[in-house]
Amino acid sequence: MKKGIFISIEGGEGAGKSTQVKLLEESLTTLGYRVTVTYDPGGTKIGWKIREILLDKEHKELAPKTELLLYLASRSQLVSQVIKPALEEGKVVISDRFHHSTLAYQGGARALDVTLVQQINEFATEGILPDITFLLDLPPELGLERKGSYDEDRMEGQGIEFHEKVRQAFLSLASEEPERIVVLDANQPVKQISTSINQHMKALLDKHSPAD
Ligand SMILES: Nc1ncnc2c1ncn2[C@@H]1O[C@H](COP(=O)(O)OP(=O)(O)OP(=O)(O)O)[C@@H](O)[C@H]1O
Ligand SMILES: [Mg+2]
Repeated sequence: MKKGIFISIEGGEGAGKSTQVKLLEESLTTLGYRVTVTYDPGGTKIGWKIREILLDKEHKELAPKTELLLYLASRSQLVSQVIKPALEEGKVVISDRFHHSTLAYQGGARALDVTLVQQINEFATEGILPDITFLLDLPPELGLERKGSYDEDRMEGQGIEFHEKVRQAFLSLASEEPERIVVLDANQPVKQISTSINQHMKALLDKHSPAD
């Protein structure tokens, strides 16, 4: 039975996800919570290998459905090996990307059938969904600029129209689930975004003491 709290941080390339994941991990650890950070794709030995296949820019021939299934294969392993056990132990899990990325990238930008993507995702994750999601919203050119073009991976190299579709798909998901997805302007200073995230976390944390 799930007892912990599951948080995902979402957004486009270079929006500041990993920066905020780290800051949130630090603030929750300081409050006494036991925190597990996961990376999707990745986060397990098998998942990191799948991630390499996905992000290798030489894999230009990777078909959209193969891409979808590889993301979900990595996620399925992550859920069964890491996320589910951690939640059962009452930990707080922070995932750097989760299912909304698949809906935005493979559903929104690659135009795969979103209902089908949702169904396969549910199959892969055993229906485990984040309790709260922070969407870091940023114009894609700013995110890509932050990261620079040096050594860009296969997804970063998709072109600005692709990343604009991803952004719009994320925003549309957020408007469908306003109670679960908090949209944050990622063009604010790091500290300010982190403060907003901590404020939004308060209500959830009040229901879970660190000893749970
Ligand atoms: N709010 C911010 N304002 C300006 N720069 C930022 C902000 N947040 C993060 N950065 C910087 O932007 C770059 C990308 O940040 P980060 O790696 O956290 O993004 P990301 O969303 O995890 O990227 P990726 O898509 O590669 O996983 C880093 O150099 C980071 O220091
Ligand atoms: Mg990152």
